[in-house]
Amino acid sequence: MTQPLRPGVDVNEANAPINLIETEESRVLKAALGHRAIVLVGMMGAGKTSIGKRLAQRLAVPFNDADAEIERAAGMTIPEIFASRGEAEFRLGEQRVINRLLGEGASVLATGGGAFMNADTRRRIAESGLSIWLKADFDVLMRRVKKRSNRPLLQTEDPEKTLRDLIDQRYPTYAEATLTIHSRDVAHEVIVDEIISELSAHLGIGLPMTKTSSSDLVKVDLPGRAYDIVIGSGLLESAGERIAALGKGVSAAIVTDETVAQHHLAALESSLRKADIRFAPIIIPPGEKSKSMTMLTKVVDGILEAKMERGDLVVALGGGVIGDLAGFAAAITRRGMRFVQIPTTLLAQVDSSVGGKTGVNSDHGKNLIGAFHQPSLVLADVDCLDTLSKREFAAGYAEVMKYGLINDAPFFNWLEAHHEGVFAGGPDRVHAISTSCRAKAAIVMRDEREEGERALLNLGHTFAHAFERIVGYDGARLVHGEAVAIGLCCAFRFSQRLGLASGQDASRIERHLEKVGLPTNIQSIPGWNAGSEQILEAMAQDKKVKRGRLTFILARGIGDSFIAPDIDPSDVRSFLDEHLAS
Ligand SMILES: NC(=O)c1ccc[n+]([C@@H]2O[C@H](COP(=O)([O-])OP(=O)(O)OC[C@H]3O[C@@H](n4cnc5c(N)ncnc54)[C@H](O)[C@@H]3O)[C@@H](O)[C@H]2O)c1
Repeated sequence: MTQPLRPGVDVNEANAPINLIETEESRVLKAALGHRAIVLVGMMGAGKTSIGKRLAQRLAVPFNDADAEIERAAGMTIPEIFASRGEAEFRLGEQRVINRLLGEGASVLATGGGAFMNADTRRRIAESGLSIWLKADFDVLMRRVKKRSNRPLLQTEDPEKTLRDLIDQRYPTYAEATLTIHSRDVAHEVIVDEIISELSAHLGIGLPMTKTSSSDLVKVDLPGRAYDIVIGSGLLESAGERIAALGKGVSAAIVTDETVAQHHLAALESSLRKADIRFAPIIIPPGEKSKSMTMLTKVVDGILEAKMERGDLVVALGGGVIGDLAGFAAAITRRGMRFVQIPTTLLAQVDSSVGGKTGVNSDHGKNLIGAFHQPSLVLADVDCLDTLSKREFAAGYAEVMKYGLINDAPFFNWLEAHHEGVFAGGPDRVHAISTSCRAKAAIVMRDEREEGERALLNLGHTFAHAFERIVGYDGARLVHGEAVAIGLCCAFRFSQRLGLASGQDASRIERHLEKVGLPTNIQSIPGWNAGSEQILEAMAQDKKVKRGRLTFILARGIGDSFIAPDIDPSDVRSFLDEHLAS
């Protein structure tokens, strides 16, 4: 028997008692689950125990860890059981323990990596439980299991190969689980949110997102350049206080555009005044055309004229154009000033304000002049989005979707179910923004200067940048996020043409984009008359070109993108010809 969940019981840490606090959410979910246990399956290192504990807490049910139970029943550790009795004996014991734990009713049960491979155990789980596969990528698993030496199956000469072989062997069976959740390096709460949301969709109970509050904090933990991304309501009002905390007696040059100034500058100024911060606004015309060398000179002059010193701050109040331009101005003025991002478009809140890419466009192409320069703080005030046009909000949504398409299929599923909430505002919006920021922060922390994985963030962008260039960055015809929406469709249709992704996935993406009012094909760009040759020419100036070959981000499916560094331009040409003719 497992230890009953009562305070003061001396049980193994893994099965330690948790406080069972009922909420409306837990009551509704438990009523739908009945006596079924939620059974977490997946590889070692997928997070079954840590996520399982939090999930149990959220559902207010007991948590059981099959491995911990086996160890307790045998009075020895799993490596000892393997060594003294062999794997076959261990599997039999495991089957018995899982059988028993399943009989105990509503609970969360974390199982060992091999448990679900047993057909009897799978059948038993299907009868008395609901299985969830925590699916993690090889790299994530390897990093996590390296930290622990108690994995008997990995005690081989080549643990990497062993892990890859286990993945190949087991993933087709794990895929039989009722639900699949992508386990990755994000806060456990995020994964738990996704499990709850998938569960509620599966059980047909349409649970509102009750957990996500109206604020969140994401940390970008770069050595020596760590910073916080604060997401929530009313942040403009507290900006002064937060900026003052960055340095005693700092002054601030606020860079913003005319439209944003009209809506939000007064609130920021009043907050800075309250915090006794000297400031000087630098206001420029709105639009992509302002991301230019001419405007950069004006901004730098403005900062210097306002007598900002090296220890002072540049504050970027606006969309991605302002963030990129002001960030670059900060990077080069007085050989580098610190800067704060206060993003006011959805696109800037979920993408451009995070990660430190700053720069301006050149006549030769987009973002060709720039620097990596991380902000010291990002304040994403969701209230600012209330003044944004529906068109600009939708454009930012394309970048939100991008994160699901890159490596997070459950997030894409969630967006399909919750996009109305994201557009309406409230907790769903905050959840979408923080999930996006977490995804971007995780990639930036692993590859700050885009030497590898960070390129995934360019999914759809090689196409998008070419379209923007061809329309001369004319926002009336095409804004960046709309170009990205079409670019995402092109990336998936191109992947389909190369035999990588299914047409169903591409259609699903197009349907979702259409639902939120975003364009999905090149011909829908007003006044479009360029052919494949012109698009290829525009792509050739992209930073992703090496010796005539193009780097594209392609996909094997939703949530499964990868970098394809050696694409033959003639394949792109044929694809574009077909696409333009369709
Ligand atoms: N640095 C990066 O990592 C990165 C990532 C993605 C995109 N970008 C860049 O971001 C830029 C696009 O950003 P964007 O879409 O935010 O464009 P943007 O900055 O031009 O803003 C779009 C429009 O919305 C207006 N606006 C901004 N906030 C508003 C508000 N709260 N209320 C009303 N109007 C408001 C602006 O005046 C502008 O007219 C592109 O230049 C792109 O290259 C950079």
